[in-house]
Order: sequence, then C-alpha cells, then structure tokens
Amino acid sequence: MDNKEIVLSGIRATGNLHLGNYYGALSKFLRMQDDEKYDNLFFIADLHALTTNPDPDQLHANVKNIVTEYLAAGLDPEKSTIFVQSDVPEVSEMYLLLNMHVGIGELMRTASFKDKARKALGIKSDSEDIEHEIIGNETNKRVNAGLLTYPTLMAVDILIQKAHKVPVGKDQEQHLELTRRFARRFNSFYGVDYFPEPVNFDFGGKPVKVPGLDGSGKMGKSEGNCIYLIDEEKVLRKKVMRAMTDEGPKEMNSPVSLPVQNLFSLMELTSSHEVLQQFKDAYADCSIRYGDLKKQLAEDILKVTLPIRERIIELQNDDAYIARVLRQGAERARERASVTLREVRDIMGIRKFY
Ligand code: TYM
Repeated sequence: MDNKEIVLSGIRATGNLHLGNYYGALSKFLRMQDDEKYDNLFFIADLHALTTNPDPDQLHANVKNIVTEYLAAGLDPEKSTIFVQSDVPEVSEMYLLLNMHVGIGELMRTASFKDKARKALGIKSDSEDIEHEIIGNETNKRVNAGLLTYPTLMAVDILIQKAHKVPVGKDQEQHLELTRRFARRFNSFYGVDYFPEPVNFDFGGKPVKVPGLDGSGKMGKSEGNCIYLIDEEKVLRKKVMRAMTDEGPKEMNSPVSLPVQNLFSLMELTSSHEVLQQFKDAYADCSIRYGDLKKQLAEDILKVTLPIRERIIELQNDDAYIARVLRQGAERARERASVTLREVRDIMGIRKFY
C-alpha cells in the first residue's frame, strides 16, 4: 500500500447522482479503483451539504442515496475506501486549524462562492457588487460562514489524506488550485515539506463539463436540467426528447448553437464515435432530424444508466450491507487522517503538557 499514489474524491450529499457527477467524477473513480497504482478513497460530503441548511432527515437520506449509487455503479469496498465525511472527525478539527492560514479575501473571490452567495441573496446579475450585499444585507437572507469556508473544508478532505490525485469535474478546478495554494502556504510558513500538491485527474487529459438539457452550459442539481442515474426509462426518454434545440441548420456547414452542441457533447460521452460522426455529418449537410438524434442519445444514455438503476433498486433496502461498508470505510479513512492531524497539531505548536 505504501508507495501507491493516493486518490481521493467526494460528492456532496445533496440528492441523486446525475450524468454530470457520473462523467465528471464517478466514472473516473471506477477506472482508478481497478488500477494497482492507486490507493483510492471516495467519500460522501455530508458536511459540505450543510452549507445550504438542508432538512436533517433529507440530508441523512441523501447520504444513503449517494453511497447506494456509488456501490450500484461499481465502487467496490474491497478495492476502495468508501466513507462518509463526518465519520472522520479529524477533518473537522483540521478545518479549524487550516482556516488560520486562509484569507477571507481569497475565499470571497472564489467563483463558486460568488455564485452560491448570489443565489442565496436572490441576485441575478453577475455584475452586482456582492461583497457589499453580503455585508450590508438587512433582509433575512444569509450567506453563512460555512459557505465561505467551503474551500478550506475541501482542501482538508484532500490534505488530511495527503492525496496526490483528485478526480473531479471542470467546475472543481478552482477549488483544487486553492488546495495547492494552501498546501504550499502551510509548507512554507512552517518550513516543512509536508503536504503534497494534489492535481486533477482525467483519462482523456481534459476534465469534462457535462452540459444540461436546457441549453445551459452545465448539468447541475440546482439548475433542474439533470438526467439522473436513477431515472426511470420513460422519464429519461421524455427528458431527452424535450431537450432544447434550435430551428435546424439552413446552410451547409453552419455553426452549431449551444443547445445543439450540448447534445453532441452528451453523445460524445455516451455514444460510439461512428454514431456521433453520422449526426455531425447530417448537421453539416442540413439533413439532420433532431428527433432522431434525441432518440439515439436516449438509447445510448439508457445503456449506461439502466443497469445502474437496477442495482440501486436491489441495494437500497440492504441497510446492513451499507452500514458494514461505511463502518469499514470510516475506520480505514481515519487511519491516515488521525496521523496527519497529530502531525499537523505538532507542527503548529498545539502540543500536550501531560
Ligand atoms: P459536487 O457534489 O458538486 O460534485 C461532485 C462531482 O461531480 C462533478 N460534476 C460535474 N462534472 C462535470 N460536469 C458537470 N455538469 C458536473 N456536475 C458535477 C464535480 O466536478 C465533482 O467532481 N466540492 C465537491 C465535493 C468535495 C470534494 C472534496 C471533491 C468535497 N470535498 C474533496 C474532491 C475532493 C463538489 O463540488 O461536489
């Protein structure tokens, strides 16, 4: 185990897994767990989910959803450490410690923070000065400190395991960049060579951004434009058939609009190269019928999702199995986390007198 590269990634417990989660993260986890080079840890980020103040029972149910979907998709507890973030209390303590080296300014400039703060305050435009709104807000809308320090907690998830590779989608790259910055800062402040600087990992070289079905750039739970792994066949087909398109190409080789490009991008992930090329050629010579493209796309997505859906249904009542997996995962995840925390406390001068 010792000279393997450490791989760590997580998904927030905010609902069911969608194709963005699958292609941005989970499909990479699956390939990495079969590679002998890696020691893999995959978790469910329930503490991060608290930043949006979820209903407690719903949060608990969502943790179960994600672990069930991890297992149904093929994560194997014999090959990977599968755990819940809050089952590693060392993370919470190190979050406090690392926050002492994180600037409020750099957190406030993070794109995901600005985005979520805007949503929380009901601000639509990108251009409005949100710092002013956050500080001066007199309504009952709040941007909580947990949201601001989200990147610290994510950095701790990674650094506490001393992970080298963090398979995530494109939207998480800025968080990874911050993690590297915090690691460098810690190392240089204390004059130690302690934390490795983690990098993203993608088999194709480029991290993916899975688009939504509504013509928007990103598939996301809060956007309401998702295809879920658990979607029933009929529901999934309907979603794809309703996906946004345009009026169709009028001239040979016309540029592709964003909604149609999105469908091509989804095809790139799920369909064969030949099928994709066939529809791209049909677009170029104006013979494309979007109805046919969507039918084919739905078919190809179902080939990926239906077997997973079946496994989810099989597993979701096996609470004893899920409990066993998570207990074992928590024990393993705490092994390295507790060593790191002990060493970090010592490096920072938090030492016992007795
Ligand atoms: P979350 O739950 O927002 O996303 C989980 C993973 O899914 C990827 N993803 C996408 N990838 C491509 N296209 C999309 N449309 C799309 N939507 C989601 C995300 O990039 C991510 O990889 N902050 C993390 C959770 C986390 C974490 C960590 C990850 C907490 N601590 C430590 C890695 C290491 C997140 O955003 O989860």
